[in-house]
Amino acid sequence: MTTLTLHGDTDAAAARSARADDVVVGVRDLRKTYPGRGRRGGHVAVDGVSFDVRRGEILGLLGPNGAGKTTTIKMICGLVRPDAGAIRVEGVDARQQPRRALRHISAVLEGNRNLYWRLSVQENMEYFAGNRGRSRRSVAAEIDTLLEAFALEPKRTALVSELSRGMQQKLAIAVAMLAGTEVVLLDEPTLGLDVETGYEVRDLLRQVARSGRTIIISTHDMPVVQDLCERTVIIHTGRVVTDDRVDNLLRLFATRAYHVRLGAPLSLRQVEALRAGFAGAAVDDDALAFQVELERGEDLYRLVDVLRSERTPIESLDRTGIDFETVFRRLVNGADGVGAPARGAQRGGAAAREERP
Ligand SMILES: Nc1ncnc2c1ncn2[C@@H]1O[C@H](COP(=O)(O)OP(=O)(O)OP(=O)(O)O)[C@@H](O)[C@H]1O
Ligand SMILES: [Mg+2]
Repeated sequence: MTTLTLHGDTDAAAARSARADDVVVGVRDLRKTYPGRGRRGGHVAVDGVSFDVRRGEILGLLGPNGAGKTTTIKMICGLVRPDAGAIRVEGVDARQQPRRALRHISAVLEGNRNLYWRLSVQENMEYFAGNRGRSRRSVAAEIDTLLEAFALEPKRTALVSELSRGMQQKLAIAVAMLAGTEVVLLDEPTLGLDVETGYEVRDLLRQVARSGRTIIISTHDMPVVQDLCERTVIIHTGRVVTDDRVDNLLRLFATRAYHVRLGAPLSLRQVEALRAGFAGAAVDDDALAFQVELERGEDLYRLVDVLRSERTPIESLDRTGIDFETVFRRLVNGADGVGAPARGAQRGGAAAREERP
């Protein structure tokens, strides 16, 4: 595979090693209520979200449908005005000086809004690079590299309206790359792609990540999170429920999960004892194997007692891997109903504004 060498790579890499800890994007207590229609009250979409993203970090912004991910991303890139809260990008207050802050950001939003459908692939790339003050000549080689890496070379002169959705998505990412900004925001970059294109886009994102840029990805694609993201912020009904490293979360949940294979099927009494006594107990259809979570060391003795009571032979006991999807579901389900304020509650007189970019 072609390795991308892009505008700003060396700068970004140098900056990353020099200031590994510095915060490139910081949001504090962001809030947004969309106005309701008629007599219906407004809808609180983002309800006090705070997080920091450090230089070169890839942050996964996760959460169920309607959690407030897109709204948060649009506030960071200036498409939706927050009711309250602070956004800093490369030290610039994005609410006070939006133009200065936006110089550091490129974004790929749902629906590929950053493309002109009546221009060709190459014209789009040149046009948007030009918008960022880059001359046609200075981007020519980079455009060649991107077209090659994104397998879009055969479509160089095709109009965007003639591209498939997956190709448009790849072009939208390529255009964001050409901007050469430190920060790249990607709202659901693999949404609606076929399996093959999904893999391709994931590969591309991995390369984008290696270029040292600071990336925020909102996604429902758990392999993307597991493969690419170092950290994840999970939001639910407009609030942050988890902010942690992905490997920490996987380790935290994986240490507990076991799979047990038996030499004889479990009795009904044993199945009931497992279900009553252990978290996440799930018995296979043939009753010859089961999954279980052992939260404390002594849980293992209790488990052996259940099996020994009927002299059931144990063939194997293995720690199972856990995927990020399971971790995500546990975290989100755990957040349900915990401390969420009534949605209809009026918030401190903040003037709700409707923005439809
Ligand atoms: N322009 C708008 N006007 C009114 N309400 C909106 C608008 N945009 C979003 N909302 C509401 O705000 C809430 C958060 O929406 P948002 O699009 O930020 O969620 P999301 O986390 O991106 O969800 P998804 O995973 O479905 O993309 C939802 O309840 C949605 O209905
Ligand atoms: Mg969204």
